[in-house]
Amino acid sequence: MQLRKQIIISKLPSHVAIIMDGNGRWARQRGLDRVFGHQQGVTALREVIETAAELGIKYLTLYAFSTENWGRPDEEISALMGIMVQSLNKETDTLLKNNIRLLTIGDVDRLAVDVKERLAETIQVTSVNTGLNLVVALSYSSRWEITEAARRISIDVIKGNLNQDSIHEEDFEKYLTTYGIPDPELLIRTSGELRISNFLLWQLAYTELYFTDTLWPDFGKDDFYSAILDFQKRERRFGKTSEQVLEK
Ligand code: IPE
Ligand code: IPE
Ligand code: MG
Repeated sequence: MQLRKQIIISKLPSHVAIIMDGNGRWARQRGLDRVFGHQQGVTALREVIETAAELGIKYLTLYAFSTENWGRPDEEISALMGIMVQSLNKETDTLLKNNIRLLTIGDVDRLAVDVKERLAETIQVTSVNTGLNLVVALSYSSRWEITEAARRISIDVIKGNLNQDSIHEEDFEKYLTTYGIPDPELLIRTSGELRISNFLLWQLAYTELYFTDTLWPDFGKDDFYSAILDFQKRERRFGKTSEQVLEK
């Protein structure tokens, strides 16, 4: 049976996060420069966004550029930023047509002015959209995010806006760059790497993890459906017993 038909729509993960990995290897396998892999990655990106929107998933978070990725060769960084501006120029209308709202998480202030401006524009014009929330992690890492939260909490405590004796998880979350976005229910990582690479460490506490050997540029609709089907077979216990979960 077609994979799409096997998906139970009432049991969709409301938030899927993806570590889009393997662009460089995809290009190298073809004797091409890594940049071709990143360009090809945009095709996979479009397909996954379209699939998520069509299924009715509420949040899709994509890891596009990590804090650590700033350590890559300058040419690769500028190529990636170029691809980003190009895609925003090309795809803003598609986002509008499909009722998709663009959001970013991360230290976007570190991005080049043209990228920042282009992003701000698209975020602004899509802010009224009520369909899929497309969250792009840019210059993002969890350790940056958590350190930043700690810094801002200290400022608020010193100013007297926050009492240090009553800081609960919900208060801490307000200082994270993901504030307002529910935790991911499913995390997908492509390219066979079995690691988190500094992505959403706080938010992934109870997320279901799915790893596939497929390289990001080859990741398509059916790969996405397979990940969702795998998720739908799992029993999420959140620390409870299986009996307790089944009772509900
Ligand atoms: C993921 O692909 C894209 C980014 C990290 C920007 P990579 O560029 O990491 O590809 P590999 O892992 O080297 O194959
Ligand atoms: C993680 O991929 C970051 C993104 C996909 C943007 P990397 O390729 O940078 O991760 P490592 O270095 O293999 O852990
Ligand atoms: Mg990689």
